[in-house]
Amino acid sequence: MVIGVLGLGPIGESVCEMLGSKSGIRVKYVCCPERPVRFPATVTRELRDLTEDPEVDTVLELSAEIHPALEQVQQCLLAGKHVVTCNKPLLAFHWNELMALAARQGVCLRYGGAAAGGLAWIPAIERCKRADTIHEISGIMNGTTNYILDAMHLAHASFQTALNRSQDFGYAEIDTASDVDGLDSLHRLILSANTAFDVSIPPEEVLVRGIRCIQRRDVETFLAHGFCCRLIASAEHYAERLAAVVEPTLVELKDHEAAVHSNFNLLTMVSRQAGKQSFFGQGAGRYPTAYNVVQDLLDVAAGRAEPPGPPRIETHVDNRTFVRKYYIRTAVSEPWLWSRTEERWETGVITCRLSAQEVHAWAAEARGRDPELFFAALR
Ligand SMILES: NC(=O)c1ccc[n+]([C@@H]2O[C@H](COP(=O)([O-])OP(=O)(O)OC[C@H]3O[C@@H](n4cnc5c(N)ncnc54)[C@H](OP(=O)(O)O)[C@@H]3O)[C@@H](O)[C@H]2O)c1
Repeated sequence: MVIGVLGLGPIGESVCEMLGSKSGIRVKYVCCPERPVRFPATVTRELRDLTEDPEVDTVLELSAEIHPALEQVQQCLLAGKHVVTCNKPLLAFHWNELMALAARQGVCLRYGGAAAGGLAWIPAIERCKRADTIHEISGIMNGTTNYILDAMHLAHASFQTALNRSQDFGYAEIDTASDVDGLDSLHRLILSANTAFDVSIPPEEVLVRGIRCIQRRDVETFLAHGFCCRLIASAEHYAERLAAVVEPTLVELKDHEAAVHSNFNLLTMVSRQAGKQSFFGQGAGRYPTAYNVVQDLLDVAAGRAEPPGPPRIETHVDNRTFVRKYYIRTAVSEPWLWSRTEERWETGVITCRLSAQEVHAWAAEARGRDPELFFAALR
């Protein structure tokens, strides 16, 4: 196999290092002019050097933005190259068009490193659905937010202190929004659910709430009641109904998610025959992610990967039947909340069972009156 690399950041460098000389995979081009390349490869600014070279059979797309990656991946697929990518937003927002193009061209489009770093998660979903029907996907899909929440629970850190520490360790980006506001979890959820359910989820229809407003006093309350908070991404597909939500969630201290510490991930699928299967490990980081990219490349090289199946119908999300009790902490006092309150905890109330649709819609509006408002589902 001969490959061209688009984007030589930490992941690209680690992949090239892991490929070494033993894999039978040769990196012929690196299309990323800004960094020194420490292995023998032609450095180019021209994508067509890769697409027009018949020796190159696969392109590794490892840049971080949607554009120009979308146009570049399209050109590579049109040129008949297999593509392996880690670009989560690219696939989350352009799933159907890229999968359809790869299917038409009869080439592979692989993304095992994008959804869950070092966990064999996407391959496990693919194997499961060959023999079974997957109904649920859920879990802790973002290590940075788990690190922050874990530090708030175990070390009694404030949100800001935990966030600063996560940046010191290199877990959180300088721009923390993608992690803290749940967008990274959204992208991973979409990749996982699209794979598991054979759907194409419009990202804007998924309800997403991150952990930015959680406070230490919330955490103390949760612990006093036998819970801890995790950022959980969930999707369910039963018959024609598809629900998809990313939100802070209170899990009991005896639950598996409560034992996920630091920046680890825990991903779970539930299928009709096999039941519940969970996968624990590093969901990001340069070498864990590079590990899955290398696995994808080896699969393509060995002919073990196949082009995607026919395009999926875009499937709309309906979160009206995704029902939970909710913890809500807010300074606003209003009839909507009074009529739904079942219990009072030290810092907030517990509602009756409500749909995620209703709670997210109310909170989006109530946040105008109380920007500090925090809510979490109870599982
Ligand atoms: N890091 C992780 O743990 C992790 C986990 C899962 C998935 N991913 C994804 O994996 C990808 C790579 O991650 P990373 O941490 O290595 O990202 P990164 O640090 O942002 O590096 C991306 C590289 O792509 C280059 N680039 C940007 N636009 C390009 C273009 N149009 N053509 C060619 N090269 C371009 C950048 O060049 P400059 O240096 O000039 O900007 C940079 O070298 C990203 O999509 C990321 O979201 C990362």
